[in-house]
Amino acid sequence: MKRIVVFASGSGSNAENIIKFFNHTKTAKVTNVLCSNEHAKVFERCKNLGTNCLYFNKSDFSTTDKILNILKNEADFIILAGFLWRIPEKIVAAFPKKIINIHPALLPKFGGKGMYGMNVHKAVKENNETETGITIHYVNENYDEGAIIFQSKTALNDQDTPETIAEKIHLLEQHYFPKVIEEVILSTNE
Ligand code: GAR
Repeated sequence: MKRIVVFASGSGSNAENIIKFFNHTKTAKVTNVLCSNEHAKVFERCKNLGTNCLYFNKSDFSTTDKILNILKNEADFIILAGFLWRIPEKIVAAFPKKIINIHPALLPKFGGKGMYGMNVHKAVKENNETETGITIHYVNENYDEGAIIFQSKTALNDQDTPETIAEKIHLLEQHYFPKVIEEVILSTNE
């Protein structure tokens, strides 16, 4: 049984979906959710699910080894589910090919610093894209640049707004993210 630590900083709908999915498999369990936003809804979701959720700040993450040590003790895989900070090099180095992010667009388009959540969907709309999608990828020290594991597309039309695009993306994320994580875990023989 592998151990997953999830990083989240927003609504936490992906974190909740991942926790629930792995509660019903023997592949892995979510041992902890780490959150960089004290007011995030993910705390309430985790409380309802009986899953640990811990707040941390920039210093815990980058200056001290507090988060690195938690990960070394509790994680075989690290999942970024709506997490916005760049991962410090020491954490990337300690978990090669074990950190996975979901991005709400078809990378390499609409990625990089500042490209998160609704900002992405607004940019997709402004660019008159005829399709968008999700990208699940390994994490390196640069935003949204690690090797791509999986993408899924959805068609857009003139009537779509950033809000309807967000809904389409949400459906893809809920459907695919836990399954793709499980496939990665099952195909990693360590
Ligand atoms: C998700 O759509 C995820 O793809 C996106 O944030 C949202 C978090 O939703 N991530 C990024 O934009 C990362 N650059 P959630 O908190 O409800 O899971």
